[in-house]
Amino acid sequence: MNCIGVFDSGVGGLSVLKALRARLPHTALLYVADSGHAPYGERGAQFVIERSQRIVAHLLGEGAAGVVVACNTATAAAVHVLRQAWPELPFVGVEPALKPAAAMTRNGRVGVMATPGTLASEKFAALLRAQPATLHVELRPCPGLAHLIEAGDLDAHALVASIEAHAAALRAAMVDTVVLGCTHYSFVRHHIEAALGPGVQVIDTAEPVSRHAARLFAKRVTAEPDAPVRLRTTGDVVRLREIASAWLPFACDVQAASPTLHRL
Ligand code: DGL
Repeated sequence: MNCIGVFDSGVGGLSVLKALRARLPHTALLYVADSGHAPYGERGAQFVIERSQRIVAHLLGEGAAGVVVACNTATAAAVHVLRQAWPELPFVGVEPALKPAAAMTRNGRVGVMATPGTLASEKFAALLRAQPATLHVELRPCPGLAHLIEAGDLDAHALVASIEAHAAALRAAMVDTVVLGCTHYSFVRHHIEAALGPGVQVIDTAEPVSRHAARLFAKRVTAEPDAPVRLRTTGDVVRLREIASAWLPFACDVQAASPTLHRL
């Protein structure tokens, strides 16, 4: 079936899928949550490249006419490799919104919350170098945060405590703008905003990325009235069903991913 493919290390990219569905309600979407191999942000780049290649090969086999890499960590590690391997297939990736943050900050101090993998990547280093020299960027690696969100309870004590600790460090650095550099963090944006306090603006990329993907892919996929949204996971299917029905405003067909995706 002709569709748009979307993937992430787990449930974080559902934030992008949600925004994409709102823009393309009649386009079939196929999402792979690689929860069985998450978190990507605490693995090496080679691991993330191999997982990403395997997932894209699967999405292509399922009729994907374009792929959204709905993961900052996989975009940083792998999107250039994917583009080389499949030159005919259009890819849209996500990266921390540093440029919009540089334009929006009033005091020239910006924080970035992201996985250790994203912040250590060469792609992110290049993004940093492209910012004005006067911009202060406070990097905040958040190991474990995506993993806590994967568990599905967005009000869990450990999750809220972890957010408060990161927010306290960012407040101490006197940033007035914080970039959410991991797609998982969108689902706890309300907690992050509350912990940062009213003087700090938060920037997320789910909306602009979905706008770009919708524009790029709309004509490549045939619109149909009852276009399905299929979610496939290498992790716990029951948990993904619960998360999808709690976090997404539309029905999804949720199943285990094909066995070829389970192997490393
Ligand atoms: N959602 C992914 C991102 O945007 C990362 C989560 C993980 O570490 O697996 O970076």
